[in-house]
Amino acid sequence: MPDRVRERVLETYRLTADTYDRGVSERLGSSRWGIESLTGMLLGEMRVPENPVALDIACGTGLSTFSLIDYIVKGDVHGVDLSPEMVRKAVENADELDFNIEFKEGDVENLPYPDGLFNMAISNMSFQFFPDKLRALKEIHRVMTPGGRMGHLFGGGKHVEELISICLDVSKGDPDLIGLREAVEDVVRLHIDLEAVQRLLWEAGFRKPFVYGYHRVMNVKPEDFWFGNPYPAYWTSSVPAENRAELDSRILSEMKERSGPRGFKITWYTIQAYGSKPTD
Ligand SMILES: C[S@@+](CC[C@H](N)C(=O)[O-])C[C@H]1O[C@@H](n2cnc3c(N)ncnc32)[C@H](O)[C@@H]1O
Repeated sequence: MPDRVRERVLETYRLTADTYDRGVSERLGSSRWGIESLTGMLLGEMRVPENPVALDIACGTGLSTFSLIDYIVKGDVHGVDLSPEMVRKAVENADELDFNIEFKEGDVENLPYPDGLFNMAISNMSFQFFPDKLRALKEIHRVMTPGGRMGHLFGGGKHVEELISICLDVSKGDPDLIGLREAVEDVVRLHIDLEAVQRLLWEAGFRKPFVYGYHRVMNVKPEDFWFGNPYPAYWTSSVPAENRAELDSRILSEMKERSGPRGFKITWYTIQAYGSKPTD
């Protein structure tokens, strides 16, 4: 599964790098409750060190990195992401907003930094994409200083289960949609829950773990969600391009079928997980 997931991530963010901010950002797009609020919740549980050298892992177009900057009076901020297109967009955004951040391309499983550089690390809405979560956490542990604290906010457990169920129904028995089925089955495996996260943090060497999750039920307009969020692109990226338009319309009609007067119900399950690298 790992290489397949990485390929899918690369293809998804190659396709959506230029539209991502519009769909999910409060600062640069039209989202009412988007990435900046989520990053605020992640950072709300972290004490920012006096002079942070901070890393935003899987920083995307920099939206979470810019929110991190808002919490820092003085210090260094870095961002790293697997997708070259997302990193390019992050650099453009930082120039436009006049932020001084060093963005790099890199995989969380092989971070392009020396040991013990960062005394703080965050990752917003990305942990669910990491194929080998233990390896990712061990690598983050390597680049942190003793005493440094790390925090992740991500979709776990049955995150967006209503949409997953439609994708599984629609793809059942259809050989043209095998890519969709595989993608959704991988997503189900990658959405781990609280106990598993806590165990992985410990196994990777982090201590003082603090892990919790919460559901937020939202009513969304089918089109807004399906075309404004990177998840659908992720799920459909392995379906042949010529079948995607028809697939979009089948899924939208299923969503409408299951909608009420205020739209389609989506359960957004968020996990926040923190751990420290021990000092001895
Ligand atoms: C939903 S976006 C979140 C981006 C940003 N943190 C934000 O809050 O807007 C998920 C990001 O995870 C990145 N990503 C997924 N797998 C990765 C990996 N193995 N290593 C580094 N980045 C990865 C993707 O390229 C994408 O930019």
